[in-house]
Amino acid sequence: MLKFVHQAIRDIRTTGSVFPSSPALAKAMTRSLRNHRGEKKILEVGPGTGPFTSAILDALRGHDSFDIVEVNEVFCAHLEHRLLKDYRAHHPSIRVKLHAMPIEQAPLEGGYDFVICGLPFNNFPLALTQSIFDQLLALMRDGGEMTYFEYAGVRTIKRPFIGASGRDHIRRFEAFRQSTSKAHIVTKRLVVANFPPAHAMRIIKRQGS
Ligand SMILES: C[S@@+](CC[C@H](N)C(=O)[O-])C[C@H]1O[C@@H](n2cnc3c(N)ncnc32)[C@H](O)[C@@H]1O
Repeated sequence: MLKFVHQAIRDIRTTGSVFPSSPALAKAMTRSLRNHRGEKKILEVGPGTGPFTSAILDALRGHDSFDIVEVNEVFCAHLEHRLLKDYRAHHPSIRVKLHAMPIEQAPLEGGYDFVICGLPFNNFPLALTQSIFDQLLALMRDGGEMTYFEYAGVRTIKRPFIGASGRDHIRRFEAFRQSTSKAHIVTKRLVVANFPPAHAMRIIKRQGS
């Protein structure tokens, strides 16, 4: 927890929140992959100190494969030391690879069944959000699922305080979300047991999109 707060103070733009996500949000973010039968290939982007990573590791079986991409090297060292080193030693058949770099530069092969994304899209310029969305969708197989989260009501709360250009950003972000909902199947689940409460947003990739 302290490590996360410290990194948030150092760089709030890329860290995106002050507290790590709760176990309840981790459960909602990983619901589909926990219920999946058969081999699965998973990508997690922006794990931070690893609340979703732990839930994903618990759900891995057999010859599943798991790629993790995190830009912050303090978080990467923490994940390796606290979670991944021991996990690999006890589960030699499962491939778990941490890529310490921005997702925009990660050399990933694609074909993912599940993408779990913790990136703070509300803090990113819209063009970056759009290009990362496109990149993640291209890395998923048809019918694959991406889950990301948004703090509930965050744009409504911000609106009066951010001036015309901020409001314009929100309008364009919402238009982008609507176009995503038209191209794919999008559902959301509210998790109140998180600070602040958040929606787990699930996108199922339509064939050929
Ligand atoms: C809002 S935090 C979420 C952390 C964790 N998933 C959670 O829910 O507690 C966002 C994370 O995304 C990482 N991040 C930001 N930009 C990134 C990028 N371009 N590529 C990979 N990771 C990035 C940050 O370093 C941070 O760990």
